[in-house]
Amino acid sequence: MALKITVIGTGYLGATHAAAMAELGFEVLALDVVREKIEMLERGETPMYEPGLEELLRRHVPGFEGSSGRLRFTQDWAEVGAFGDVHFVCVNTPQKHGEYACDMSYVESAIGSLAPHLARPALVVGKSTVPVGSADRLARTIAELAPAGADAELAWNPEFLREGLAVQDTLHPDRIVVGVRSERAEALLRQVYETPIGEGSPFVVTDFPTAELVKTSANSFLATKISFINAMAEVCEAADGDVAKLAEAIGYDDRIGKKFLRAGIGFGGGCLPKDIRAFMARAGELGADQALTFLREIDSINMRQRGQMVELARQALGGGSFLGKRIAVLGATFKPDSDDVRDSPALNVAGQIHLQGGQVTVYDPKGMANARRVFPTLGYADSALEAVRGADAVLHLTEWQEFRELDPAQLGEVATTRLILDGRNALDPVLWRKAGWTYRAMGRPTA
Ligand code: UGA
Repeated sequence: MALKITVIGTGYLGATHAAAMAELGFEVLALDVVREKIEMLERGETPMYEPGLEELLRRHVPGFEGSSGRLRFTQDWAEVGAFGDVHFVCVNTPQKHGEYACDMSYVESAIGSLAPHLARPALVVGKSTVPVGSADRLARTIAELAPAGADAELAWNPEFLREGLAVQDTLHPDRIVVGVRSERAEALLRQVYETPIGEGSPFVVTDFPTAELVKTSANSFLATKISFINAMAEVCEAADGDVAKLAEAIGYDDRIGKKFLRAGIGFGGGCLPKDIRAFMARAGELGADQALTFLREIDSINMRQRGQMVELARQALGGGSFLGKRIAVLGATFKPDSDDVRDSPALNVAGQIHLQGGQVTVYDPKGMANARRVFPTLGYADSALEAVRGADAVLHLTEWQEFRELDPAQLGEVATTRLILDGRNALDPVLWRKAGWTYRAMGRPTA
């Protein structure tokens, strides 16, 4: 008989996972403790902008034309317990207020609420990013609380989806990692992921701690790559080198690779910054803090980029204060194809300049509403052209396709000064200079 799947938590991860499971052919019941979220999803809408996700939802949420009807929602834990053979826990684990460690309260409350309803054989599968050692502890909670006893089991299956590419990453994962304690758990997960495995996704079976560590170490490696190239940008800046050329040249070495070597104002978002901090905190608890002290440097290189962008702008404007200067900021989200402004380097830079007296006008293709909520005192414009109108400097801070396609000549007609600072090294300097702009980017030659 086909497996029945439940998904607990319908944020980024959960909403995407639930829709993907329905797409793979399973009956899915998803639970969230926030009623509004569920009501939105039932209307085929998502609380965040994620390309392709609403379309995927509407293919499976009942009531839409041609829908499979396989994806339903509830707030009833007993219904979830009775329905599922496999329960995916997809709640978030944010950074704790005032600490590096991550806040496990949502995971703990999800497991605590679900376990007493596990009366029949079931596999609970953790997907949230957690400190190593959590799965072992949560397995004990399930063993204590589940009426099914040993028939209710835990597995850990970290998620590697990228915002903006969440649907594709979930349906066609580049690897599937499962931490399991029994052959039954492994067999069930092979059944769940039969389609992607059939398409060639590698299936890596590990113990609990390794599965948990795969996730945090992958994000630490990515963060390290970005901070590495940003450190090289600082050296290039001092030595008059060109970090973009340098990245291209080292990237041809396939041991190094081209990806994640784009220098700029650094990484942000809801994952990389908090994950490396939580990883350091956990290593400290385990007495292995020395192994991860380098991550402190990765974090500080990253945070320094934001300040350096502000300085670059100040210097380019003549070195004085920002008072009376009009600054156009292109981009507010932490990355393109997302409306997420959590720990966004772009918004941070915009905010710093604003707080130093600059008149900042922000435009972002999808992040305006979230940016306004976080930073209501910044100026906002409805288009790039409007943001740039009258500007003394234009800062390109999130690498949206729309910004690469801008016409520098047209923008030049409305700007007060043709000064563009590329905080993402994503624009073509030749094009902008040809249209009479002064183009500056960290770690790139001035002309
Ligand atoms: C990251 C990981 O890439 C995913 O594999 C992981 O599943 C996810 O976190 C998670 O833990 O849930 P995401 O937060 O969507 O995904 O963002 P990334 O694509 O990793 O980008 C992070 C930041 O790095 C962005 O601000 C981006 O602009 C910046 N970045 C990226 C650079 O500054 N340079 C680069 O070369 C690449």
